Amino acid sequence: MAMAIGRRGFIGAATAASVLPRSAAAAPTGRPFLWGVATAAHQIEGNNVNSDYWLLESLPDSGFAEPSGDACDSWERWREDVALVAAMGLNAYRFSIEWARIEPEPGRFSRSVLDYYRGLCAACREAGIAPVVTFHHFTSPRWIAALGGWEDARVVDRFVRYCATAASALGDLVEYACTFNEPNAQVTSYVVAGGRQDPRETRIRAEAARALGSDRFCAFFQGDAFRVRDNILAAHPRAVAAIKAAIPKARVGMTLALQQLSAAPGGEGLLRRVRAEGRVPFFAAADNDDFVGVQSYNRDVFGPAGYLPTPADAERDASGQDASPGVLGAVVRDVHGACHAPIFVTENGINTRDDTQRIRHLRTSIAGLDAAIRDGVPVLGYLHWSLLDNFEWSSGYTPRFGLVAVDRYTFRRTPKPSAAAYRDLVRAHRG
Ligand code: FCB
Repeated sequence: MAMAIGRRGFIGAATAASVLPRSAAAAPTGRPFLWGVATAAHQIEGNNVNSDYWLLESLPDSGFAEPSGDACDSWERWREDVALVAAMGLNAYRFSIEWARIEPEPGRFSRSVLDYYRGLCAACREAGIAPVVTFHHFTSPRWIAALGGWEDARVVDRFVRYCATAASALGDLVEYACTFNEPNAQVTSYVVAGGRQDPRETRIRAEAARALGSDRFCAFFQGDAFRVRDNILAAHPRAVAAIKAAIPKARVGMTLALQQLSAAPGGEGLLRRVRAEGRVPFFAAADNDDFVGVQSYNRDVFGPAGYLPTPADAERDASGQDASPGVLGAVVRDVHGACHAPIFVTENGINTRDDTQRIRHLRTSIAGLDAAIRDGVPVLGYLHWSLLDNFEWSSGYTPRFGLVAVDRYTFRRTPKPSAAAYRDLVRAHRG
């Protein structure tokens, strides 16, 4: 999770892959069920020097454990990444295209960067992998942040123009597209914090503005959460239309941060507010989309003043949060009751250094998803976060979400046993 916000965002025995039910073999679209992995440009490409996050990471006291630097060097090693996805027998790869590279200065689009992403999409398709392209995954060009970022209404036109240009360059190589990644996370954190802004934010934004010679700076998770939400919700349908105008067959939606939420006595009001501000408007915006992207990791329980501590008997991830594998099944059922769009699980996984925990978590999460599908929840696919151990925003390189380990110095990729377990599980589902 991004910026100074930490992620607040075991049931049963491990299920044997060979007995998993097969109901997830075909999606409600009639297209094959999508089995894949997800990544994001800034977290894997490296040297995303024109982005707002690159600048923030370099500021003293900005809350980042370390800067992204070379990340996983996927900018150079993307062919290896596609080969890893193919080796797992997957048919979908979600990655993001980087606005800061595509439009490094206002209105100046880089043909070579757009060609680069075309090459990535083409390589996926040659390997039988559907590219699932995210147009905005937290990072923006520095010039957008210096203009006032997502707090300033002018960003809407700029974003739509970028989406139109990128979509027409990628063209029919793209089958699935996500406009925004987790645009509901900021307003959710804001409501949980009781409407208080992190006091460090003003200082960090002023420093970043100074570094750019601007009088303002606003990155994705900064600024007035409600103004940011308004601008994103104004941009989303226009971005969907722009992408579809360029790629009529594309299926387009946005992805949302959707943890499993409940309230302990006294926490009901907060739960209601979080749903009302951080979910309802986004579900309404997604209602007519081709899918709603569900991204679930944790189980959060509200008390009167915020999140309650993780219960002693909970399954924990490496950061100590409740990471029960029951989360995914519960959340997709909940979303199905609240939004009409078909569900696409665009992220789910666990931060752990114990790969046996990851395997257990993966199998049980998918068994829960499968049970929901058998009960009638329409699901297009499941994308595991993540392909690689990568740059986890403000937490740096300490968290481990990958099915594949990456050497920090040589960038050598080494699949973990969980990569083979995922391959076997997908094979068993396909029958
Ligand atoms: C999600 C983000 C993704 C990654 C995972 C662990 O909130 O979309 O970039 O950080 O969490």
